[in-house]
Amino acid sequence: MALLETRGLTASYGDFQALFGVDITVGAGETIAIIGANGAGKTTLMRSISGVLANAASSILYRDEPIGALPAPDILARGIAMVPEGRKLFPSLSVEENLLIGNYGRKVDGPWTLESVFSLFPVLKERRGNPATALSGGQQQMVAIGRGLMSNPAVLLCDEISLGLAPVVVRDIYAAFPRIRETGASIVIVEQDIAQALKVADRVYCMMEGRVTLFGRAADLSRHDIHKAYFGTGHHELA
Ligand SMILES: Nc1ncnc2c1ncn2[C@@H]1O[C@H](COP(=O)(O)OP(=O)(O)OP(=O)(O)O)[C@@H](O)[C@H]1O
Ligand SMILES: [Mg+2]
Repeated sequence: MALLETRGLTASYGDFQALFGVDITVGAGETIAIIGANGAGKTTLMRSISGVLANAASSILYRDEPIGALPAPDILARGIAMVPEGRKLFPSLSVEENLLIGNYGRKVDGPWTLESVFSLFPVLKERRGNPATALSGGQQQMVAIGRGLMSNPAVLLCDEISLGLAPVVVRDIYAAFPRIRETGASIVIVEQDIAQALKVADRVYCMMEGRVTLFGRAADLSRHDIHKAYFGTGHHELA
């Protein structure tokens, strides 16, 4: 049974419709990747689930309850946390203060505390007193993930955590995911790097122009099918 599900989810910015009936399911403990080109609607999907964008109540179900119309603080309180595109850290606050903010919206017991986040990303402990802006891009991304974990979410949504980071840094960040999975959390990762998405996810959804164009178990999807679903009928080549 799905822990989280979207049903015919639509979303618009004013007159512009960005999502056209998106259906995805996320099982308990499952890791899902959402892939798709720029503008496909991946972030809009994340914003809809996390309550940043309001939707029809019954278009998003969580633990079988309609949550599509709930505002972001209520979504977080119920156990869905977002690591937003672009990290959105508080620049003047320290690493530790940024992490603690993740704990304000939802104070529940669970595996994630300052100490366990520091054990997941040891470099953050060394730099706990530094302002977030003093950190490298990769370290800032670790803070953003840690902040999301501090609410002990049942579902962690991660939007483009590898964007703009060197491959070695991306590897370090993804190395943390098995430990996050082990806690039983479900993870939804938006990722433009298809190889990375296939590596980390149990199942993959590909989006194009506001629709899901392909989904399946990561191991079952062929490069050819992904290519078609990702680019449509264009002449691009996958790297
Ligand atoms: N605040 C906004 N106002 C108007 N249109 C928007 C807004 N945010 C996104 N859009 C449009 O909605 C569509 C989907 O955008 P979205 O950011 O969800 O795509 P994405 O798949 O996350 O892309 P990217 O890979 O570039 O992050 C795009 O056509 C985009 O231009
Ligand atoms: Mg995006």
